[in-house]
Amino acid sequence: PDSLKLGLAGLGTVGAGVLRLIDAHGGEIAGRAGRRVEVVAVSARDRSKKRDAVIENYRWVDDPIALAQDPEIEVFVELMGGEEGIPKEAVEAALKAGKHVVTANKALLAHHGVALARLAEASNVALNFEAAVAGGIPIVKVMRESLQGNDFSRVYGILNGTCNYILTLMQEEGTSFDDALKDAQAKGFAEADPTFDIGGFDTAHKLALLTSLAFGVETAFDQIYVEGIERIAAADIEAADGLGYRLKLLGVAAATEHGIEQRVHPAMVPKHTPIAETFGAQNCVVVEGDFVEDVMLSGQGAGAGPTASAVMGDIIELARGHVLAPFATKVADLKPYPQAAM
Ligand code: HSE
Repeated sequence: PDSLKLGLAGLGTVGAGVLRLIDAHGGEIAGRAGRRVEVVAVSARDRSKKRDAVIENYRWVDDPIALAQDPEIEVFVELMGGEEGIPKEAVEAALKAGKHVVTANKALLAHHGVALARLAEASNVALNFEAAVAGGIPIVKVMRESLQGNDFSRVYGILNGTCNYILTLMQEEGTSFDDALKDAQAKGFAEADPTFDIGGFDTAHKLALLTSLAFGVETAFDQIYVEGIERIAAADIEAADGLGYRLKLLGVAAATEHGIEQRVHPAMVPKHTPIAETFGAQNCVVVEGDFVEDVMLSGQGAGAGPTASAVMGDIIELARGHVLAPFATKVADLKPYPQAAM
């Protein structure tokens, strides 16, 4: 069969990672997927920026929205990031033009996921977003497919690599908050605006998606209580340590008698538990299902390689011809998010 032709917009850490992955493993992937995967055109804000990937081999398109509708492509891979503006318009244009979309953009989906899923379903195309939640950990696939036999009571965990990296360095090495953040940025873990990481908003974006997957409800970012790690001082870490705890930034979504509760905040976690022993840019996600009981997944939650791996999984799914409903259910069957408890 013909190769699966991709248009890739966004050539930052993740976009460059995806190009490198296809270069490294294109041959094996063709064997595994039954079809070659080929990037035919790329787009980014700045063509001349120095990057960890060779981009001269690909047709350049200045306007991501034009790339999204390019007649040559079958899949639009959106790795620009950002909740509004060009990324949103490009994804909408791609879906309307009947292109499958693969995206890592959690901010976009946390706010507009349901509307975009409607567009995808109307055009009979996929909207895949494995890389939007917990980097390399395949939690979306697990929730959307493998665990669909369950009713869920809770999903929670460490969902931001940057915060976990900062807290780990502060705790284990005595590094200052500011130095640890700079280090996380240098390693390519942080968002373009790191306020999203340290303020807890990135965790909340991911939590909104997990909540929707777990409980079959519409995403409701605005219903999430959000507190970040900016105010954690070395003294807090020391105090927690003395009591036998580590400080971790958690995202928690739980079914309660008052409806679904969603919250993001630092928490004291007993040492020697898997969550407490999630270090560096790792994430750890726990899902509680009624039949399966607890499932825990951990792995690298940020960075070029792990995130590119997740993007590639979504692309391979499409190369194999699998088009799944964007959320765990058809978007028409999503329940409205319950009103916040009084
Ligand atoms: N900035 C994010 C993090 C990237 O640190 O987890 C992965 O979504």
